[in-house]
Amino acid sequence: MKALALGSLQLSTPLTLSPLAGYTNLPMRMVIREIGGIGLCTTDLVNARSLIERNPKAIKLIESHPLDKPFAVQLFGSVASEMVEASKIVADLGVDSIDINMGCPVRKVVKIGGGSAMMTQCVQTAALVRQMVNAVKIPITCKMRLGWDEENITAPELAVALEEAGVTAITVHGRTREQGFEGSVHLHGIRRVVEAVKTIPVIGNGDVTTPQAAAMMWKETGCTGIGIGRGAFYNPWIFKQIIEFMETGVCPPEPSFEERIRVLTRHLDWMVEVFGETHGCRLFRKVGPWYSKRFGPSSFFNKKIVLLTSRTQYDEIISTYREWRSRFLDESGELQPRYRPEELGLNFRECLPEDSEPAVAKRIAIPVPKGPQELW
Ligand SMILES: Cc1cc2nc3c(=O)[nH]c(=O)nc-3n(C[C@H](O)[C@H](O)[C@H](O)COP(=O)(O)O)c2cc1C
Repeated sequence: MKALALGSLQLSTPLTLSPLAGYTNLPMRMVIREIGGIGLCTTDLVNARSLIERNPKAIKLIESHPLDKPFAVQLFGSVASEMVEASKIVADLGVDSIDINMGCPVRKVVKIGGGSAMMTQCVQTAALVRQMVNAVKIPITCKMRLGWDEENITAPELAVALEEAGVTAITVHGRTREQGFEGSVHLHGIRRVVEAVKTIPVIGNGDVTTPQAAAMMWKETGCTGIGIGRGAFYNPWIFKQIIEFMETGVCPPEPSFEERIRVLTRHLDWMVEVFGETHGCRLFRKVGPWYSKRFGPSSFFNKKIVLLTSRTQYDEIISTYREWRSRFLDESGELQPRYRPEELGLNFRECLPEDSEPAVAKRIAIPVPKGPQELW
């Protein structure tokens, strides 16, 4: 494991939380930080113009906490003056670094020349980024895909231009905009970016859900850091597990049911603290089912949690769920073997067809949450 630094900002581990619009809010970040292993957390993408206009939704998106450190805000936009002004606002708030979104394929972002559209205009994009770099003292990083489509793999060229413009790190999701979330993560595509830049670290991203997959991402791409998004949904322990695996060579055991409930409850408590009880409980309805994927039988829990309205009701749900779940346990209180969730054994290598290039990883089926974000 190499050390990861964004310019002068040294991270305690080379692992970052990839932004997930609608999910990587303050509660999720705090839960991940409390478990450990994380080097840097980032907000969802925030519209630069909305921030300048002090739009309450944009302000809420960048809400942080003294323990939410180090902390990056991800901005999107294509108008240089707005990106510069938004950067200054964010820097003045004491944020540790700014990430620029160059990977979002959602129409409303691309339409204004932001997100993955920035990958098609290397010179203009680098010029815009240079202005941001010159305007603030904190590190500026960029997050991109491999390119617009297979015929337009611009990531290596853009990365070089961005390095010259002064960015301190680049995250690369190893798919094109056209791919969406389909097909393989091209590890060799990420490697090409690693080989193109001179000194800045590259953070490899895409489909890392296990410590073994992280080890393979490092080995096949030569990247310095790894960004994890969806893998952290149902496994916020993943960062800690990866660090342990890299340090000891042994994959730590999966968290117990009790540990999962403990963290789930912390997540709800943070939701209530940050969003208030009513809204926090409503938002939690989409969080609970991610955790329950590793509970074993969970239909009872899922049916109740998607109707959650109060913190007291949560306690009732957990206690009645425990009672319901007890029928699947053996005498020692463990799930009977036939009810245990499948091992999280998936990694890139296991998914490779025998004759494939080693650096091409077949896609692992990681669920993409329903809703407009499906386009990510
Ligand atoms: C629901 C959802 C929302 C996302 N939101 C963002 C975002 O706001 N900014 C961004 O740069 N990428 C976003 N992404 C892309 C992820 O950060 C990441 O690059 C991608 O999911 C691949 O990594 P993973 O396999 O570890 O999830 C989003 C992805 C998903 C599934």
